[in-house]
Amino acid sequence: MEAIHLAYVLVFLLPVVFLLRLRRRGPPPAKWPATTTAHCPHPNPVLGNTLDFIRNRHRFFDWYTDLLRAAPSGAAIEAWGPLGAGHAVTTASPADVDHLLRAGFDGLQRKLASHAFSSRSLRRFTDGVLDVHLRRRFLPLLDDAASRDGGAIDLQDALRRFGFRTICHVAFGVESVDGGDDDPATQEALFAAFDMAVAISFRRALTPATFVRRLTKLLDIGKSRRLQEAVHVIDAYAMSVVESKAAACHRNGVDDGSVDLLSRFMAAMDDDGGSGGSELGAMFPTPAAKLRFLRDVVVAFVLVGKDTTSSALTWFFWLLVANPRGMHYLHAAITEAMRLYPPVPFNGRVAVRDDVLPSGAALRAGWYANYSAYAMGRMEKLWGEDCLEFVPERWLGERGEFVPVDAARYPVFHAGPRVCLGKEMAYVQMKTVAAAVLRRFRVDVVAPVASMEAPPAYEMTATMKMKGGLLVRLRRREE
Ligand code: HEM
Repeated sequence: MEAIHLAYVLVFLLPVVFLLRLRRRGPPPAKWPATTTAHCPHPNPVLGNTLDFIRNRHRFFDWYTDLLRAAPSGAAIEAWGPLGAGHAVTTASPADVDHLLRAGFDGLQRKLASHAFSSRSLRRFTDGVLDVHLRRRFLPLLDDAASRDGGAIDLQDALRRFGFRTICHVAFGVESVDGGDDDPATQEALFAAFDMAVAISFRRALTPATFVRRLTKLLDIGKSRRLQEAVHVIDAYAMSVVESKAAACHRNGVDDGSVDLLSRFMAAMDDDGGSGGSELGAMFPTPAAKLRFLRDVVVAFVLVGKDTTSSALTWFFWLLVANPRGMHYLHAAITEAMRLYPPVPFNGRVAVRDDVLPSGAALRAGWYANYSAYAMGRMEKLWGEDCLEFVPERWLGERGEFVPVDAARYPVFHAGPRVCLGKEMAYVQMKTVAAAVLRRFRVDVVAPVASMEAPPAYEMTATMKMKGGLLVRLRRREE
């Protein structure tokens, strides 16, 4: 039942407890500095920073960016909850990110999952899945909107559905959402459940646990109840995907050359030798435990695949209309859009031992150690005076070639051994969709207004979701 927690943990926070070994350079300091980080702002002795969190929840990422810009250490700030609980240090320093994320680990799940992101799988993705969903569903939907009077459509919503279908297809081999007729009511309920569960879990992970939260959990009312209900809907969906895949594998056997990710996990669990499969199987002694693990794999992949590329593309289209000049290099423009609006704006680990970050921030075992990719993309000292402007050209060399930067400075896809496995796939998807849409349609933003002076609001959730969606007007370009 704790699938959303497990999945969330698996994808975003799993390294939190087990996998992170905060690397310590040299022996521990003889005496820990009392604290070298700025408080956020100064905590109340009883409530900590709880009231500040509540007051700023609508502009959470910008609030943290302001605090990090003003931090005396120049890099990191410290916050905590009531009675000193839930300590977190958050950084915007590339040296700290490097220190936190480039720690060594060995990951069996990563080894298994990485097969699905090989260049062969990527080719299969572009030629098969992406093409099918783009041409058969996504572009016809936009065509329909363009031929209606006014041509308006919520592009964020259309992109999220497209992202969901493609991830289901590539990761589970399921071409339609519910294995059959894509019933809109089933889809609505599932999307609403995912949004609710992710938003509540994200707030809980970042904001201190108040007495009210503990009480609602105990009494099973309010948000705690809504979370449970949402998890129930998600679990039921994921389990149905697992069960129908298991039945299909049982009927047809597994063709190891072209299988989807879920079949690969299933085969590895039953495997007696080779690729570490028996090791994975041994971790789940009962058939029910195996099924629950596979269910959580499904949830985790939907979480990473559904809202990330759609978030990047939504902000990209908005920035494009807000900045109509010189936008020639798609890769640079998409990279630049994610600098200002990273799909995963805030991420972290839990320290397994006391440590001091390169910026001087002291960390204690059990504290959260976060980095804000959103704040880092908006730091003048990292990107220069025009850091708040959309300038794709900053990514281009003299001959117009794309010049990447170190992942610790641009941790949009994370960094180190747990770096995003789907990065190449995500770029392929985003560039294919952006090019296909721009070639076919003129896109005008209806709302929110496309002006850099009035940026759209976002939701406080794990992915950078535009509040209220992106309403665009489409006009077909002359054939
Ligand atoms: C613009 C799009 C995307 C962004 C910005 C992004 C970002 C990230 C980030 C920040 C993480 C690290 C999470 C953590 O450990 O805390 C991650 C992990 C991961 N991502 Fe992505 N992602 C994107 C698209 C995708 C897609 C489309 C897929 C799959 C098809 C994918 C698959 C994965 C997987 C499997 C991991 C876990 C890697 C591991 O823990 O070893 N990602 N991604």
